Amino acid sequence: MGAPVNRRVALARIPQGMPEPADFALVDEPVRSPGVGELLLRTVWLSMDPYQRNWMAGARNYGTAAALGATVIGRAVSEVIQSNDPRFVSGDIVCGETGWQTHPVASAEAVEPVDTSLAPISTALGVLGSPGLTAWVGMLDAGKPGRGETVVVSAAAGAVGAVAGQVARIMGARVVGVAGDPAKCRHVVDDLRFDACVSHRDPDLGAALARECPGGVDVYFDNTGGSVTDAVYRRLARDARIALCGLVAEYGAADARGHDLRSLLASQATLKAFSVRRNLYRMPEWRRQASAWIREGALVYREDVVQGIERAPEAFARMLSGRTLGKALVRVAEDPPRH
Ligand SMILES: NC(=O)c1ccc[n+]([C@@H]2O[C@H](COP(=O)([O-])OP(=O)(O)OC[C@H]3O[C@@H](n4cnc5c(N)ncnc54)[C@H](OP(=O)(O)O)[C@@H]3O)[C@@H](O)[C@H]2O)c1
Repeated sequence: MGAPVNRRVALARIPQGMPEPADFALVDEPVRSPGVGELLLRTVWLSMDPYQRNWMAGARNYGTAAALGATVIGRAVSEVIQSNDPRFVSGDIVCGETGWQTHPVASAEAVEPVDTSLAPISTALGVLGSPGLTAWVGMLDAGKPGRGETVVVSAAAGAVGAVAGQVARIMGARVVGVAGDPAKCRHVVDDLRFDACVSHRDPDLGAALARECPGGVDVYFDNTGGSVTDAVYRRLARDARIALCGLVAEYGAADARGHDLRSLLASQATLKAFSVRRNLYRMPEWRRQASAWIREGALVYREDVVQGIERAPEAFARMLSGRTLGKALVRVAEDPPRH
């Protein structure tokens, strides 16, 4: 057997618009030996998230700025192969920002254990991880829907949107999703049990929203920005709340522009942007709540899986362009047997 190899996906070129295969390079290199307090990991699942596009565009708020040749950043679920830290033993499952690579070496400080008794370990990147927590804190703290109020969620079939809408439904609101195509809209209504869903590819999105939100939009959970946000702003009810979660339609877009503040003034709306990173301390509470809802059948989730680290760039573009349904993941290796 040869020396163990770490295969990683490096940034080869700054993407312009939608990332292309030539923006990335596969690099094989020897696995590094872990030092004191470090772990050698075997990546099992990689998470595909819109913020990675923002990092590629040069945003600096993700720890390191993107540099050519750098491993693409990202969260992953991994198995501990070798531990030089007393908190972990080999065979443990951990989650952390270890990037697009098969055998990262990480500080034990920088990863957290995954509770394998709750659900399949991939959920630590989706419904029981950062996207789920994002949806929950955004809806609770910024959206604050009352019973019977109308909530609109953009990117409703995605990792965050699917949970955000279901949380609003559990809180007693009437929930309308916005998604890319009819199959997604069916999933949002039939499986996620939103009250309605409209497609942002509808040539008259404004009329579709007016039909589904006759009394206006009390809460807008904004995952996208772009033309969806323009259309929803025109339907805001008086004292509407906007939970500004993300602007995936605008990341890396050269022509991104602002939205019409006159609609906010006219409806006397409140806009609150929020970040999951300031709320990570609430993860244990979210996991307890979400696992109970999953057991009761109140909260459902879907995963969209692509096989193989070589296909991470393709999986990433699929997620950004709306060709995924549910949480976008790359399976890098088989799940270890449950212990
Ligand atoms: N504030 C925070 O702390 C925080 C944390 C995590 C994520 N976020 C944000 O939450 C949002 C959703 O993230 P996610 O991980 O759940 O991604 P996702 O929804 O699973 O995937 C992104 C989806 O956005 C939709 N989309 C892309 N371009 C669009 C456009 N031009 N117009 C309308 N929809 C478009 C596509 O679905 P369709 O087929 O429906 O178009 C696409 O699949 C992102 O903006 C992300 O940055 C924020």
